[in-house]
Amino acid sequence: MARISLRNVSVELAIYNPRGRALKNELLRRTIGGGVRDDRDRAVITVNALKNVSFEARDGDRIGLIGNNGAGKTTLLRVLSKVYPPTGGVVEIQGRVSSLIDLAMGMDMEATGYENIVMRGVMLGLDHKQARSITEDVETFSQLGQYLSLPIRTYSSGMLLRLAFAVSTAVQPEIAIFDEIIGVGDAGFAARAKKRIHQLIQNSNIMFLASHDNGSIQSFCNRVLWLRGGEIVMDGPPPEVLGAYDDAIAAADEIADDETSGELPITGERAFS
Ligand SMILES: Nc1ncnc2c1ncn2[C@@H]1O[C@H](COP(=O)(O)OP(=O)(O)OP(=O)(O)O)[C@@H](O)[C@H]1O
Ligand SMILES: [Mg+2]
Repeated sequence: MARISLRNVSVELAIYNPRGRALKNELLRRTIGGGVRDDRDRAVITVNALKNVSFEARDGDRIGLIGNNGAGKTTLLRVLSKVYPPTGGVVEIQGRVSSLIDLAMGMDMEATGYENIVMRGVMLGLDHKQARSITEDVETFSQLGQYLSLPIRTYSSGMLLRLAFAVSTAVQPEIAIFDEIIGVGDAGFAARAKKRIHQLIQNSNIMFLASHDNGSIQSFCNRVLWLRGGEIVMDGPPPEVLGAYDDAIAAADEIADDETSGELPITGERAFS
């Protein structure tokens, strides 16, 4: 059984150094031992990437996340993947989460493919026998052959993606998280990757998919959350939410005055304006 509950979850991301001064001051301060704190304080602005997000998810939920660029979809997925701790509110997650966002995160470029597989296995909480079995699975699925014995810094970007994808999908999660359905690698590998993604989705208890493609949302999801400016605008069945979202886009186009005007959702001092 899997279950997720978010209550009034907010994520504020601090941006230091919008114009380079803060970082320079920080470095100077470290070298010369202080003295420019005032300036540094004024150099922080905060992006409110998620604001008071609340929802519950249960077994069988296949949740699509939609919304314009910067709406907060990836941020929400990162909170669910425990990459970002929320700065406010409560997140409760029951069930093993595996996410296909930030695929190569945590990989060590100096370590070999084999070493990275085992390290990821340990991170996933596997014991020795299970780690060995994912190694065999990754060998077969990635078809990287002898490259697995080399440090991964020697891989092409497509090879690195093959390894990261194979490792990230080797264990069936209870809660599966996707940022777009990615096409991975060359044609042959992409077809196998797609099949594997479908299996993962089918066998998961709860699934999240952030996507700009209505077709993917319609084929994989039975519920949609629409995010705008870090807030949930609507939560409901795909036809209704996608319909309302499309209407809003059409209306925004007509008045040529939508929220994608590039305004930053920030608080804090605009020290550099
Ligand atoms: N590392 C970061 N540091 C500061 N701000 C960030 C960071 N990552 C994202 N943001 C900001 O957080 C907000 C939400 O971004 P997010 O990546 O979650 O949007 P998204 O809905 O996934 O957009 P897209 O459709 O473009 O993928 C945006 O205002 C963005 O500028
Ligand atoms: Mg995103």
